[in-house]
Amino acid sequence: MAYQFFSVPCPITVGCGAIAILGDEIKNRGLKKPLIVFDAGVKEAGIPDKVIKILDEAGLDYACFDGVHADPSVDVVDACAAVAKAEGVDCLIGVGGGSSMDTAKATSIFTSGFEGDARFYVRQTPIKVETTTPVFLVPTTTGTGAECTSVAIISVPEKNVKWSVNVNTTLGVVDPELTVTLPPLYTATTGLDALAHATEGITASTSNIHATYMGLGAVRKIADHLVDCYNHPTDINARTEMAIAADWAGMAFNNPLTHLSHAMGDAFGCHFHTPHGLSCSLGLADTMRLVAEARKDDMKVIAEAMRIELTGSETGRELGELVAQKIFGMMHAMNMPSLKSLGCSREEIVGLAKEVTENHLCTHSPIPVTLELMEKLLGDVYDNYQ
Ligand SMILES: [Fe+2]
Repeated sequence: MAYQFFSVPCPITVGCGAIAILGDEIKNRGLKKPLIVFDAGVKEAGIPDKVIKILDEAGLDYACFDGVHADPSVDVVDACAAVAKAEGVDCLIGVGGGSSMDTAKATSIFTSGFEGDARFYVRQTPIKVETTTPVFLVPTTTGTGAECTSVAIISVPEKNVKWSVNVNTTLGVVDPELTVTLPPLYTATTGLDALAHATEGITASTSNIHATYMGLGAVRKIADHLVDCYNHPTDINARTEMAIAADWAGMAFNNPLTHLSHAMGDAFGCHFHTPHGLSCSLGLADTMRLVAEARKDDMKVIAEAMRIELTGSETGRELGELVAQKIFGMMHAMNMPSLKSLGCSREEIVGLAKEVTENHLCTHSPIPVTLELMEKLLGDVYDNYQ
């Protein structure tokens, strides 16, 4: 077997009530003042107040940055960094979905003494910045897995792209109780994003045995519990299973990265301003169908993890179809919008093909990506889920 590399960026604590450990984790590192980074939705759900209460009880000072928005831009990172410097904070707490956690991650570049602005560090081909400011990551969705990846995905408005940068992180705190207020559509889209992380991590050309097993564990839990979370938001057992699934899915793609569904999702998000989870899950079923023949063994174990009954004699193409139909079934069960219902035309979607093929994630595709193939895939994505 060829050498394989697998890493997990930071320790993770998982469990109901886990945010209670934040105070001691910060104090025990000799830190005195975190910047809490979040967005309006998280603020409305009252989650920053829970973090503040824990910091107060620990006798810690703190500052807040509530200016995160979906698909945070380099300008948001620069604004957050300005607050961090003005407040003299010595660590960061990203509280929310991927947008809040990625903003906190990218901000750590500038509290670690690196000069310049976010536009310099956020690149099409990501670089690693050896940040030293501790970053604590507290997810409030069950999808992004940003608490266990090193990448921060940041948009560059003038180029209409989402690029990224890799940094060091300190601790992920996964508390399923923080996810029960997540609205149904976001439960659906972030959960399907986690499914995309797991299945794309497993089928990427850069995948490895660790990613496969972490990913399959995630696929199994998502198939079993995501629709329950959508229908019964306060089902803490289902929420806990999904929180773990999102975490495992994050680990599954941290090394191999994702491929075609996320490459298409980046373009959908940039052009139509759809949230990341929705953008990246709309093309997942057709992506799995497309790569199934090339990754037949992977598709078989994915199908088994999704509780699809198999005869054992299915071709790769048949396995891909079964997995695609299972994903479509989950999307319909959770009333996921289609590209058409979002107001996009077929011509607009197919017209993104050149941009998508130039996304660096396409280099992780298990099959060669051509402009013609991408035009066909985008057309299928538009046609096949209505
Ligand atoms: Fe994603």
